[in-house]
Amino acid sequence: MILYNDLFLNKEEVHISYDDRGYYFGDGVYEVFRIYNGQLFEIEKHLQRLKRSCEETQITFPYTMEELQDKLYQLIQKSFVQEGTLYLQITRGVAPRSHVIPENIKPVVLAYCNEVKRPLDKMQSGIKAITQEDIRWLRCDIKSLNLLPNTLAKQNAIKHEVDETIFHREGIITECSASNIMIVKNGEIHTHPVNHLILNGVTRAVVLKLANQAGFTIKEQPFDFNQLKNADEVFITGTTVEIIPIISIDQQKVSNGKPGEFTRELQRLFEKVIP
Ligand code: PDD
Repeated sequence: MILYNDLFLNKEEVHISYDDRGYYFGDGVYEVFRIYNGQLFEIEKHLQRLKRSCEETQITFPYTMEELQDKLYQLIQKSFVQEGTLYLQITRGVAPRSHVIPENIKPVVLAYCNEVKRPLDKMQSGIKAITQEDIRWLRCDIKSLNLLPNTLAKQNAIKHEVDETIFHREGIITECSASNIMIVKNGEIHTHPVNHLILNGVTRAVVLKLANQAGFTIKEQPFDFNQLKNADEVFITGTTVEIIPIISIDQQKVSNGKPGEFTRELQRLFEKVIP
């Protein structure tokens, strides 16, 4: 079942125009929500970020928050998904190809649910990563459909037989191809501050809140390549990955090469807040 503008349609009934600006320019924004037990996790935060992405790109937000929330829950019910993800994108709309944005263009909404299992094995064992220069634009805070640098970075990880690519910009660690990153050093959590260089991750915010409640020291300050390589623990956060330890970076073990105790504790705390 697909939500396409105002309609709930079967896959075969959805017809996307080749003049959709999402197709020509990646001119659109998106969100990925996690469905736990038929519930959308942190729905308000995702919807607020979507609205902000629309505002920053001057795409008309086509519904009220309540209307959209209602439609997404209808979609989940019609799709019979209990555990999975919900993908939602809004493109600017349909118009003959021109860099100039036409006036009164009507946005196109597309959303669907997928059954996706939680990555329990990787959460347990940890994953390996490589590092790479962050070649993205300077508005990584917008969840834009333009993901070519991210997909190429992910592909680079696959080529190196690891799971994720960590981005650095002039020596500063920003985030990963599809997740945020945190390190632990001497019991302190370090993560890049929220600004134009990273996506303000919903999971990042949940993890920081839990860490704060648990009394951990949090430094939302830029950290560099050396700090990454010498960290006691490294982990990523994201809607699909939750909290996954990184146990090796550029073929070098992180600490003893095993998931660390802080990461484990945050995983336990996270488990308690999911529906
Ligand atoms: N991506 N940073 C980037 C570049 C991301 O693409 C994502 C998530 C995150 C984590 O944000 P959140 O915790 O809100 O999911 C950080 C989604 C899952 C995706 O593109 O599929």
